[in-house]
Amino acid sequence: MSADKVFHSRSEGIPSEGVKDQYADGKAARAWNKFIGDSHQRTQNYKDFLIGRLRRHGCERVLDTACGTGIDSMMLVEEGFKMVSIDASDKMLKHALKARWEKRKNHKYDEWIIEEANWETLPRDIQSFLPDSQFDAVICLGNSFAHLLDEYGDQRMQKMCLRNFAECLKPGGLLFIDHRNYDAMIEHGATPGHSIYYNCKYPVDIKTSVLVVRGKPELVALDYCIDGANDDDNERSDFRLCYYPHKLDTFTRMLDEAFDYRAKHQIFADFKPIDQVSVPGFYIHVMEKDSM
Ligand SMILES: C[S@@+](CC[C@H](N)C(=O)[O-])C[C@H]1O[C@@H](n2cnc3c(N)ncnc32)[C@H](O)[C@@H]1O
Repeated sequence: MSADKVFHSRSEGIPSEGVKDQYADGKAARAWNKFIGDSHQRTQNYKDFLIGRLRRHGCERVLDTACGTGIDSMMLVEEGFKMVSIDASDKMLKHALKARWEKRKNHKYDEWIIEEANWETLPRDIQSFLPDSQFDAVICLGNSFAHLLDEYGDQRMQKMCLRNFAECLKPGGLLFIDHRNYDAMIEHGATPGHSIYYNCKYPVDIKTSVLVVRGKPELVALDYCIDGANDDDNERSDFRLCYYPHKLDTFTRMLDEAFDYRAKHQIFADFKPIDQVSVPGFYIHVMEKDSM
């Protein structure tokens, strides 16, 4: 579906051609960088959850498939993981590359690989700069996967990308992938909870719009308004990002299918066991690829 026929699905300045990169004008990338802060502002719950599981599973080499400004990758580099970080948006990657340059005197960062690549063409994109590589873990976090909209109405691209993630994993490897609680957003037209990933220091207002086409929720637009009035640049940042509203049960089935129903699949709510949170902000899926 072309959402733009009925709904303006992007911030001003983002062309409709190539709209897949919702950060193409650089404004959302700048604002996102401000929104999430640096890796020290990652929440302790998040760090404990991700790093704890990676360590317990003996993971060393990790692929961050939606590295954006590089925030999660840096957190993992600091913890000694060997990171390969990719993203489809050069405007986002610009921030990651700058961050790596600023850390160039810290040897932990010497082996951090940052490249442009697209989920739709993995693992081929990775082969071009790192032949024959498979990873102990693949992450796609921060509600990133929902950026991929359903162009054909049958989720074929999403299914293909999930398969691509599975292919990037070694046997026994882990995939961490999340989505917001779109079930609640569809039902209430509001975004539940605060961010579980960042301790954002600015007041943030997120307006939620749900686009329903022929009775089916097709798209959720989040209008972020970040109030930086007390900041040096005294800037208020407004930007819109659009997401595919993944329902928990459909997404769960799609993931199982991508791993040929042979992976161990765990689901967490805001990093806690799912029955401990009544209305979570996020669901986090952890897939353990079959070791055969
Ligand atoms: C919300 S940002 C999250 C970045 C980071 N994980 C974080 O938590 O801050 C989502 C990222 O997914 C990237 N992305 C969206 N579609 C993509 C695709 N098809 N292939 C690769 N990256 C994609 C965007 O460019 C963006 O940088």
